[in-house]
Amino acid sequence: MLSRDEGVSEVLFTEEQILVRSKEIAKEIENDYKNIENKLCVIGLLKGSYVFMADLLRLINLDVQVDFMKVSSYGNGKNSTEVRILKDVDFQISGHDVLIVEDIIDTGYTLEKICDHLLTRNPKSLKICTLLNKPSRREVDIKIDYNCFDIEDLFVVGYGIDYAEKYRNLPYVGVVK
Ligand code: IMP
Ligand code: MG
Repeated sequence: MLSRDEGVSEVLFTEEQILVRSKEIAKEIENDYKNIENKLCVIGLLKGSYVFMADLLRLINLDVQVDFMKVSSYGNGKNSTEVRILKDVDFQISGHDVLIVEDIIDTGYTLEKICDHLLTRNPKSLKICTLLNKPSRREVDIKIDYNCFDIEDLFVVGYGIDYAEKYRNLPYVGVVK
């Protein structure tokens, strides 16, 4: 039987490190949104953000509404990258404060597309929260409001993040061989 961490060469962030950092981010979010009039609309990007989002939201003592979006991207590099929306949000975000939760921001194309799309619906505010950020890989300018960790240009897995659909259930973030 294959173990869930077969092929992982290094642990980058342990469960404990992720929890400590998530608590800090959760406090910031709680503080920033404590006076909003409506529920905070939290939109997770499938599938990679599901573990982070579940853990983060349970650390935030605010009234939230949860939904998910799913995108697919083809190719890489400036001209060939096309991001398509496969699942849109189900609720009305017009006039609401919206927080996008992502696993990793790499080139930035995914979030650029999502933000452009959501902004056409006139949310009251739109912010981004990510578990991981790869600044050296960025090709489009993205303002990240909440970022747990910057990482080098490494391919990482675990804590929701996959390689060919494997490793999502690792409790930590690791690097594959
Ligand atoms: P971007 O559009 O280039 O910013 O791509 C972000 C998406 O690429 C993330 O949501 C991930 O799905 C995927 N991705 C980027 N880096 C990694 C990685 O190291 N491991 C697994 N998926 C990654
Ligand atoms: Mg993703």
